[in-house]
Amino acid sequence: MITVETKLARTFLSDEERNLAGTVASESSEKLDKRTGKGTEWLGWQDILREPNDALLENMESIGTEIHKKADVFIVCGIGGSYLGARAVIEALTPEFRDRGPEIIYAGHHISGRYLQRLIAHLEKPNANGRPKEVYLNVISKSGTTMETAIAFRVLRKWMHDHYGDDAVSRIFCTTSKEGGALNKIIDASGYRKFILPDDVGGRFSVLTPVGLLPIAAAGIDVRRLFYGAVECYERMQQDRSNLLDYVATRYALCKKGYAIDLIATFEPALVSMGGWLQQLYGESEGKNGKGLFPAVAQYSTDLHSLGQMVQDGKRNIMETFLHIRNAEPSLTIFKESGDYDGLNYLSGKTMEEVNEKAFLGTVQAHGEGGVPVFIARIDEQSAESIGHAIYYFELATAIFVYALGENPFDQPGVEAYKKAMFRLLGKQD
Ligand code: PA5
Repeated sequence: MITVETKLARTFLSDEERNLAGTVASESSEKLDKRTGKGTEWLGWQDILREPNDALLENMESIGTEIHKKADVFIVCGIGGSYLGARAVIEALTPEFRDRGPEIIYAGHHISGRYLQRLIAHLEKPNANGRPKEVYLNVISKSGTTMETAIAFRVLRKWMHDHYGDDAVSRIFCTTSKEGGALNKIIDASGYRKFILPDDVGGRFSVLTPVGLLPIAAAGIDVRRLFYGAVECYERMQQDRSNLLDYVATRYALCKKGYAIDLIATFEPALVSMGGWLQQLYGESEGKNGKGLFPAVAQYSTDLHSLGQMVQDGKRNIMETFLHIRNAEPSLTIFKESGDYDGLNYLSGKTMEEVNEKAFLGTVQAHGEGGVPVFIARIDEQSAESIGHAIYYFELATAIFVYALGENPFDQPGVEAYKKAMFRLLGKQD
C-alpha cells in the first residue's frame, strides 16, 4: 500500500490556496470518473483493473516462468513507456546481485552503436557453465515504428537468427498494437509470438499490460500479485481517494504558486528506477502548453553530494517527493573497532538501515527548513502487491493533476518535434 504525506508541503501554502486547489482537484477527479475530460479514449489503464483478465495473467506467468528457467539473458528492447515500467518493477523487487534467473538487459532505449556492439560481444561470451548463452528477446513498441527500438531490434534479431537459426523464432516475443506499424509487418513475415497492447492504453500507462508484465514475469516476479495489488488500489480509490486528492491538490497549489521542479528522491537504490518511471509518467503527461512541473530523479544519499547544495540553498522553485519503502530485510550492523580511527564507534550496534533512515529524516528536516516543500510517499513493504498499488496510485494522481492543469494527460504531441528534425537531417522520405 502507498500513502503520500503532505503535511510538510502544506505549510508552504495559505488556507485559501489549499482550499482553492482542493476544489480544483475534486472537480478534476470527477471529470475523470464521469469520463468528461480530455483524452477519454485512453482510459483503458483503469478498465483493465476493473475487469481483470486472469487468462492473460496466466499466459504471462507461464511464458515468463519458462523464460526465467531457460534464459541466461533476457533482452527488453523498448524505450519510454515501453520499458521504464518493467525496469522500475524489476529493480524494485529483485536483488541487485543475483545468482538465479536471467540477466535482464535493456536495449532500444537509445541510439548508441557502441552499446549494441558491446551487448552482442557479451551475448557471444559463454555462460557461467562455459556453454553458449541462452538468449531470449522481447521487443516492445506500441507504434511499432520508434526508431531507437527498431534499429536495436533489427540488429538483435539478425544476431538471434545467425546464432540460433530457425529456433530464433521461438525466442523472440513482440509486444505491439493489434494492427499497424512496421513491427506488425515483421511479425506477419517472421511468425514471432505477439502480445497486444490495447489501443486505449498509452505507453506510459501500460506497465500492467503485456508491455510490462512479460518482462516482469521473466524476471521471476509474481505478476498476479503485482496486478492484484493495483486492483486493490483501484477498488480502494473508488471508495476513498481523500489521501490522493490531498496530494494532488497540494502539488497543484505549489505548481500554481510558481514552484517549477519536482525532485523525486529516494534513499533506497532499488527505487531509483521507480523514480525514472514516475519521471516519465509526470513529465510526458504534464508538460503541455507551458504548464507542468519539471520532474527530476535523485538517488540519495549519493546525490546529496552533488545536488544537495542546490536543493538546500539554490533558487527556491523546487519541491521534493521522497519515495520511501519499509525495508524488512536484515541489514548490516556496524561493529566496534579497536582504536576507532575512523571515529565510527558511536554508531556501533546500529544497522545501516537505521543510519539510512536517520539520513532520510535529517534530509527531510534540512530541506524543509531550507524552503523546500516535501512530500513523502510511503510504500509499506517491498512486495509485488505494494508496488502494484503504487503504480495505480501514481497513474491516477497523474491523470487528475493534469486535468487540474486543463490539459490532456494521455497524449505527447511535443515528442514529435525532435523526431521531425532528426528525420529531416537523416534524409528520411515521407
Ligand atoms: O508514453 C509513451 O507513450 C511514450 O513514452 C512511448 O512509450 C515511447 O515513445 C515509445 O513508443 P512506442 O512504444 O510506440 O515505441
